[in-house]
Amino acid sequence: MPKFQFPEEFKWGCATAAYQIEGAWNEDGKGESIWDRFAHTPGKVKNGDNGDRACDHYHRIAEDVALMRELGLTSYRFSISWPRVQPNGRGEPNPKGIDFYRRLIDALLAAGIRPLPTLYHWDLPQALEDRGGWPNRDIAGRFTDYADIVVRSLGDRINRWIIFNEPMIFTSMGYYAGIHAPGRHDLDAFLRATHVVNLAQADAIRAMRATQSEAELGTAFSMSPCEPATDRESDAEAAERYHRFINSWFLETGLQGRYPDAFPEGPPLERMGVEDGDMKRLHEPLDFVGINLYFRTIVAEGDNPIGIHANAVGPAGGRQGPRTDYGWEVYPDALHAMVMRVHRATQLPIEITENGCSYLYERNPKGRIQDSRRIEFYQGYISALARAMQTGADVRGYHAWSLLDNFEWSEGYAQHFGLVHVDFESGKRTRKASADWYENLIASGTIDL
Ligand code: NOJ
Repeated sequence: MPKFQFPEEFKWGCATAAYQIEGAWNEDGKGESIWDRFAHTPGKVKNGDNGDRACDHYHRIAEDVALMRELGLTSYRFSISWPRVQPNGRGEPNPKGIDFYRRLIDALLAAGIRPLPTLYHWDLPQALEDRGGWPNRDIAGRFTDYADIVVRSLGDRINRWIIFNEPMIFTSMGYYAGIHAPGRHDLDAFLRATHVVNLAQADAIRAMRATQSEAELGTAFSMSPCEPATDRESDAEAAERYHRFINSWFLETGLQGRYPDAFPEGPPLERMGVEDGDMKRLHEPLDFVGINLYFRTIVAEGDNPIGIHANAVGPAGGRQGPRTDYGWEVYPDALHAMVMRVHRATQLPIEITENGCSYLYERNPKGRIQDSRRIEFYQGYISALARAMQTGADVRGYHAWSLLDNFEWSEGYAQHFGLVHVDFESGKRTRKASADWYENLIASGTIDL
């Protein structure tokens, strides 16, 4: 069987996010986030779950970094909780919040693991939501101040940063679909939020580079290759519009200083709250592209309230792959297709910032979690990635989502994405078979094609 050898300097990682693993939701001066508020509101999260304790990672840095070292990780993507650093989203930093991340980073560095922090993985300080949240333009300034504080506080240890996690998801699910915090159902608020996030991203890039000239900046985009549902020309065009909206809305803006052509009638600039000078202001290219990818998207032409005249219709009959226990289609070629497209369009270095699957497994009689479908999933996607690298894509790292079973947003603890199982009563961690598989992959640096 042909094999692919990953380059020596390729980073092998796992990814997590603050609200999903830390717990300690109100300790050491941390402020309330929109996810604290949302999950504490009855009916918002499955089974009434919340992240108050989650994996209790806040109190288990040593144990969790030891787990990472045993796996042989060379990169760890985690997020910094804004309300831990600035409890109300403005003003002086909370020293205990900064200290927690300093201790985590020092433990990672001592273990030979590159820390790759994300500045915003969805836990907005509630105080800023009370002032209008992401649709309010003022928040761009607040975010820039926060980004600058983080770089000033931790930039002696780190120079590669992820600014946002999945801007299309947190704006659409939070302000339009309402199934994520802050739970609003307002199309205009969503459209405005996308523009403000684009402004905030560019402002943050400028501020971070001014503070740290060697900063390398990226965002982790939710990406999914868009395929037309039929061979009709109209569906092919719809799939392109859909791609430009879900994959490029926060990337092409910075690179080109314009919104991608996703709307048949042009972007709704007025509804988005675009003002004179804004397009120049958001023109600030990233240094690398982070790709979070789970599945492909099949698209058909048709009315859509957003105005892009295209809809995701799910895999067409007869050609779908198997499903994870979350119902997501397993389709490894999605990763190959997306990486190649981003590579050709941007020529930028790429980091796979997330890829993984939710499968629920009981322990077998020997007490072992034999999650073979997860191993198959990773084998398929990582070899698809290898094929893209063989064809010339400049991919620097791969991060499995996730290190630990954790709080999966509106699904609570019902989805299990971890390589490591967590007993949420006792906090006990148990490696699954997939963890052993990943450890072997990292050790050999080769994958069957
Ligand atoms: C997307 C998000 O970034 C992460 O927080 C989430 O848990 C995984 N993907 C799985 O849905």
